[in-house]
Amino acid sequence: MIQAVDLTKRYEDGNLALDHLNLNIQPGQIYCLLGANGAGKTTTINLFFNFIEPTGGTALINGVDCTKDPIGAKRHAAYVSENVMLYGNFTARQNLEFFTRLAGRRELGKEDYYMVMRQVGLPERSFENRVKTFSKGMRQKLGIAIAILKQAPALILDEPTSGLDPKAGAEFMELLTRLRGEGKAILMSTHDIFRAREVADVVGIMKEGVLIMEKSRENLMYEDLEKIYLKYMEV
Ligand SMILES: Nc1ncnc2c1ncn2[C@@H]1O[C@H](COP(=O)(O)OP(=O)(O)O)[C@@H](O)[C@H]1O
Ligand SMILES: [Mg+2]
Repeated sequence: MIQAVDLTKRYEDGNLALDHLNLNIQPGQIYCLLGANGAGKTTTINLFFNFIEPTGGTALINGVDCTKDPIGAKRHAAYVSENVMLYGNFTARQNLEFFTRLAGRRELGKEDYYMVMRQVGLPERSFENRVKTFSKGMRQKLGIAIAILKQAPALILDEPTSGLDPKAGAEFMELLTRLRGEGKAILMSTHDIFRAREVADVVGIMKEGVLIMEKSRENLMYEDLEKIYLKYMEV
């Protein structure tokens, strides 16, 4: 569903940020991408949404080439970043309305928005409050609500839990596991080794643009992911 084939990005200044990345994330899978700052995680994610263009290889979402048909590819994927773009002066419901209409869904009504806000765990009293009064955790939940309403089979998230307090982070990850249960393919970058180990079906470690390790849940069962990570960072 979310696929990279020898995906490569050299920025205009010559920096090789991503070097022949191969990924394949199936429906019902969570893939956690770990790596130090500057490892190439955001570059990878940005390539799927055609925010930047690859200098080699291919990014595909549901088989659609993200460079040749970016609009077609984006139809199958929802994006959540560390700081979800929301309108502070709009209420939560108004933000949902605005962004889902932008994504082409016009048939939804107030009850649909309320239902999805309940589903992501936003408190009822916040539904008609302006988003500028929201905590970061609430904003991220609203970001996921927008993603859910898009009804895309792929979900791609760039450090969605960074800056969240532990409870908000845990709730957010629980939400992701629920979406996995509904068959979504999920790619997320994170610095949270503990949570990655807990929820990921596959964990990848990236270093200087290269995917240097990839392990499935079964292979991590009896291993200390933090130790593995730190060891890879040394060499
Ligand atoms: N627009 C850009 N132009 C040049 N280099 C960039 C640009 N964006 C990111 N980089 C470089 O690409 C590398 C990977 O960055 P990034 O993908 O943001 O890493 P991460 O998200 O893992 O922290 C870094 O060396 C970074 O400095
Ligand atoms: Mg990044």
